[in-house]
Amino acid sequence: MGRYLTDQQITDFRNDGFLVLPNFAPAERCLQLRERALQLAEQYVPSPEQATVFTADGTPQHASDDYFLSSGEAIRCFFEKDAFDADGRLRAKAHLSLNKLGHAMHDLDPVFSSFSRTPELAAVAHDIGMANALLLQSMYIFKQAHIGGEVTCHTDHTYLWTEPRSVVGFWFAIDDATRENGCMWAVPGGHRWPVRTRSRLNDARTSTVTDVLDPAPYPLDNLVCLEAKRGTLVLLDGAVPHLSAANTSDKPRHAYTIHAIDGAAEYLDDNWLQRPTLPLRGFSVN
Ligand code: FE2
Repeated sequence: MGRYLTDQQITDFRNDGFLVLPNFAPAERCLQLRERALQLAEQYVPSPEQATVFTADGTPQHASDDYFLSSGEAIRCFFEKDAFDADGRLRAKAHLSLNKLGHAMHDLDPVFSSFSRTPELAAVAHDIGMANALLLQSMYIFKQAHIGGEVTCHTDHTYLWTEPRSVVGFWFAIDDATRENGCMWAVPGGHRWPVRTRSRLNDARTSTVTDVLDPAPYPLDNLVCLEAKRGTLVLLDGAVPHLSAANTSDKPRHAYTIHAIDGAAEYLDDNWLQRPTLPLRGFSVN
């Protein structure tokens, strides 16, 4: 397998817990994925009565919802909480009110699969030490103009726990991500701190609970702004604290994320995301 990253980039990723790679995905591929995401949103959008609201600001409105818990091997739609007015009616067309699509487009949709599996991605995963990278989940995040919600500070390992820790986020800017439309922020070196919470299934496997391992919030004094032009790939170590602000601008901020784990690590069976019928595959095209 060829290399993609330089030694310096690998060192930077190890030191910072993230790495920004501008111009990784061609703009036309990003626009093709964007178009496909909007088609899937129209195709799969549930009626508002069935809607699951997804918030990442700490309120677990989706946590007990089977629609969410069984979405690991499906293509599902999750609404923004500000998509609804005080009477519970959608303010805009349903597919333009979504927070995200999740969580198996990379395996169930050909356009998403081909975006998610390239020699370059396979090489990057190998370069950062993933001996057997497996694509666990995909999310297409709309971060809609005006209503795109805040994502509070978290680590991805909290939700996708392996022993040892192995999850890495592959985050693609599908639109330009700026301070105005809610770009990502991360804490350089924060991946060296112990992860402070773990979200897992309850004993009945009907909802999620959060184990607080350390109640102190992550220190955010050194947050770095990860503004990213369309086509940029941001690698995120699973333990690096990161967040994004609400999108109050008039520009959407679409992004696509793949979370991969290393097949050599143990994926815990009380993680929320389970794929009992859909085997995990890697970044290789075949
Ligand atoms: Fe995240």
